[in-house]
Amino acid sequence: MATYETLLVEQREGGVSLITINRPQALNALNGQVLADLTAAFSAYAADDTQRCAVVTGSEKAFAAGADIKEMVDKAAADFFIEDFFSGWQANLVATRKPWIAAVAGFALGGGCELAMMADFILAADTAKFGQPEIKLGVAPGMGGSQRLTRAVGKAVAMEMCLTGRMIGAEEAKQSGLVARVVPAAELVEEAVRTAQTIAAMPPLAAMINKEMVNLAFESGLAQAIQIERRLFQILTATDDRTEGMTAFIEKRPGVWKGR
Ligand code: CAA
Repeated sequence: MATYETLLVEQREGGVSLITINRPQALNALNGQVLADLTAAFSAYAADDTQRCAVVTGSEKAFAAGADIKEMVDKAAADFFIEDFFSGWQANLVATRKPWIAAVAGFALGGGCELAMMADFILAADTAKFGQPEIKLGVAPGMGGSQRLTRAVGKAVAMEMCLTGRMIGAEEAKQSGLVARVVPAAELVEEAVRTAQTIAAMPPLAAMINKEMVNLAFESGLAQAIQIERRLFQILTATDDRTEGMTAFIEKRPGVWKGR
């Protein structure tokens, strides 16, 4: 398996890729190398039919403490524009059609919070702290955070977080709808892997389409999204796995999936 300068990647039982960001000296700050490594790791995950769900995690102290400020400090505005800085995150991670979970312990700040929100959902350790402190650096979220955070937690909490830089803890993040579940820190990674194994055991096409449907709620108007949802449902009914899934239910046995 490929090795990466800033990531550890393991394949776990049941078709789960566990991707750990590993830049402890910078609290996993997201520099160009992390983006290049995540792009390559996601591309390998997407291309490998044996891998059905991924987990992205960090360390106990930091999921990621933001975009790398030391990399950005001397860049001119024209450089950010010409490089279309941050566009690679959307193109290479968000565009992944297969499911992935963010397992967050410690700091998820700025780009770290934004990376977690790019995942299909977030599992948080009880130590997790989410924030968008960019305002303190004279900037604002640049990897989708102002949009995804607002849709996840609503205007009031998102606005307060963006305007004050206040971090919210795991319980507040759960109450606000930012995270799916909170688990004890010591159990985070194994619980995320178990959850990913549950998803990986599902019919893979249905997993991709369920993901696309829920994302539609984020990305389009309700009437159009409901129509696209209905069409995608109708397309799924053409798969062998749909026939198998419904038959297996009626025959009271587990389904056996072909991925077609
Ligand atoms: N970029 C670069 N380096 C970072 C970093 C970042 N975002 N966050 C932490 N580091 C580095 C520190 O500079 C420090 O390095 P040195 O030992 O070489 O000085 C090392 O990681 C450890 O950090 P601290 O000593 O600061 O650790 P702490 O426990 O005292 O504080 C913290 C932890 C509160 C997370 C603090 O590090 C911090 O505030 N980090 C910056 C958070 C931030 O502003 N993030 C937003 C970045 S901008 C952004 O993300 C834009 C966007 O929209 C995508």
